[in-house]
Amino acid sequence: MRKTKIAVLVSGGGTNLQALIDAQNSGIIKSGNIELVISNKEGAYALTRAANANIKTEVIKKTTQEEFEAKIIALLEENEIQLIVLAGFMCILSENFTSKYPKRIINVHPSLIPSFCGAGFYGLKVHEAALGYGVKVTGATVHFVNEIPDGGEIIMQKAVYIEEGDTPEILQKRVMEQAEWKILPEAVERVSKKISEEQ
Ligand code: GAR
Repeated sequence: MRKTKIAVLVSGGGTNLQALIDAQNSGIIKSGNIELVISNKEGAYALTRAANANIKTEVIKKTTQEEFEAKIIALLEENEIQLIVLAGFMCILSENFTSKYPKRIINVHPSLIPSFCGAGFYGLKVHEAALGYGVKVTGATVHFVNEIPDGGEIIMQKAVYIEEGDTPEILQKRVMEQAEWKILPEAVERVSKKISEEQ
């Protein structure tokens, strides 16, 4: 069976990208292959992680939404990408983009959707909001991406307990370790398998 060609879109440190690379190396991801990493930020450490794993990288800076998305689409087409993974990608994609790839874009979000999600909830802000509200359980969600920010069909979720003395940074790390780095590779394998079986 032909492996699903995957592109990973990133903006920062890339620990979720690293989890995907490790999962590919260990065989957790066996139905897909990461062909390309696209960053909207020059110098993002995620680009170094990709280069260290011999994965092709591209930087596309945000200009107008239309131009930015057109450049990404051109790269995806050039590389015959079948599955797009948003792994710490801090830009919202328009309906013009998402409607081209129904059930072909997945995102990891650091809360249990529908809590603490949507426009304005990204990175540490999500954990600040969870601690501010006083929830006792949070977690991570992997979902398909549609035109509603964090509103697409949920693929996997994992709960993580909040502990006494948590700061946003401590909680972010626990959510990554206990949830994101586990469910993102599993979800990517699940969706890649489905795509590769269809072709
Ligand atoms: C992760 O916690 C990811 O879930 C979150 O940003 C962090 C990126 O870390 N994404 C969002 O908040 C998107 N709404 P990473 O670059 O180390 O993977």
